[in-house]
Amino acid sequence: MKKLYIETVGCQMNILDSELVVASLRNRGYALADRPRKADVILFNTCSVREHAEEKIYSALGRLKHLKRQHPGKILGVIGCMAQNHQQQVFQRAPYVDLVVGPGQLQQIPDLLEKIAASGTPQMEVSLDRQQGARETIEQSFESYDPLRMPEMRPSRYQAFVRIQIGCDKFCTYCIVPKVRGPEQGRHPKQIFAEAQQLADEGCREVTLLGQTVNSYQFKEGGKTTRLSDLLCMLSEIPGIDRLKFVTNYPRDMGDDLLQAVGSLPKCAHYLHVPAQSGSNPILQRMKRGYTVEDYQEMLQRIRQEIPTAAVTSDFIVGFCGETEEDFELTCELVRDSQFKNSFIFKYSQRPGTKGAEKFSDDVPEQVKKDRNNRLLAIQNSISEKANQQKIGRQYEILVEGPSKSSRKQNQTGDQLQLTGRTMGDDIVVFQGNRRQVGQLLHVTIYEANAFTLFGEVKTEHVGPEIYSISP
Ligand code: SAH
Ligand code: SF4
Ligand code: F3S
Repeated sequence: MKKLYIETVGCQMNILDSELVVASLRNRGYALADRPRKADVILFNTCSVREHAEEKIYSALGRLKHLKRQHPGKILGVIGCMAQNHQQQVFQRAPYVDLVVGPGQLQQIPDLLEKIAASGTPQMEVSLDRQQGARETIEQSFESYDPLRMPEMRPSRYQAFVRIQIGCDKFCTYCIVPKVRGPEQGRHPKQIFAEAQQLADEGCREVTLLGQTVNSYQFKEGGKTTRLSDLLCMLSEIPGIDRLKFVTNYPRDMGDDLLQAVGSLPKCAHYLHVPAQSGSNPILQRMKRGYTVEDYQEMLQRIRQEIPTAAVTSDFIVGFCGETEEDFELTCELVRDSQFKNSFIFKYSQRPGTKGAEKFSDDVPEQVKKDRNNRLLAIQNSISEKANQQKIGRQYEILVEGPSKSSRKQNQTGDQLQLTGRTMGDDIVVFQGNRRQVGQLLHVTIYEANAFTLFGEVKTEHVGPEIYSISP
């Protein structure tokens, strides 16, 4: 039996892609290995969103150079966004790599591996560049990758990602995603429904719908347009699915129909990730985000009106081209005013091939970016901590996900252990429980909280006094 080792970086889309690649290779008789040394095929599923993510992969490849020289029969592959971004450059920087496959060509991996094993020649399959032809031709070169699922290949059998959209058409000036993931294309609602139905039949309770701008989802057929709100209504009907989530939202496409669906459908999590990116209008304009700070705030108001309990999270980029101290202060102000549940903060990383790299100079010094990152993080953390403290004493329903980080670190084996679960508002709750509870919906009462985690106790079911009166 052949052995596969796979390492994944990047967003949820990549985690899903890796799951599907592993499933397709399992179907060809592969088993998983837990380290490169034990594997016949070593794959890196990569991300290009920041330079650091790419450099980490080249370092990892560098560390495998020796192993590959000792065992030339091992196949070393780079797949995903960096494969599409760098193409031949991967072979130039790491000439011992055998396989380069972009995210729009993943379905070819099993055949390409056989080809390499038979011929010993390196293989590359990537999609067309966005300027390389008519839209339809380019769309066809990015195939949505949705082979059969395998429950045992998911990190948790009770939770699953389902792709509803590939690519992105927004072309924010800093972002490489439209280049490496291709044109935006909505998946057929019937396929989405069938996949969710199959997942439910296999015991999955929570489905997270994925798209780069998931709320821009549209599928047109026979004069009828299906939107994300329609999908949520359809998927709500599936027995066994208890929770529906979706990421990532684009602020300008946050329609009232969607907010009403989330507010009224009991299975929809009250959790919305809607990245603002900056709190300064000149910066938003340079980023080509298509909205002003005032538009964003108006959208937040609509969210709070329709779904008062909504947990809203955001992404921010600090140190974008030309960002002054005043611009940055405006971002801090937006964070203070918006009361986000959480914010992911990134230092701007110039990406060759984007409009931002072409038109603006990356003129904020690294030290200033670092400093702004830390300052913004401190503001957000103090907001998160305060909000979490208010949850102490309250009761929440959680879906139990599995052993907590610390149980996993300590390799706890017994039935009684620390577990982690998530609320409908996407809060992580750690509690003392039993392995049998994984995959269950439980009620917990919060007794402690920090900025990132809630600590809870399982509410024990009412135990009548009669139990105590039974003598042993
Ligand atoms: N499609 C999603 C996520 C895109 S990538 C969206 O539109 O929000 C995830 C996050 O990475 C972005 O929200 C942005 O904050 C950050 N990001 C993207 N390009 C970046 C770059 N060049 N430098 C630093 N951060 C970047
Ligand atoms: Fe990148 Fe903007 Fe598309 Fe998000 S919406 S993937 S940030 S181009
Ligand atoms: Fe990275 Fe590709 Fe996702 S560039 S963020 S893995 S879409």
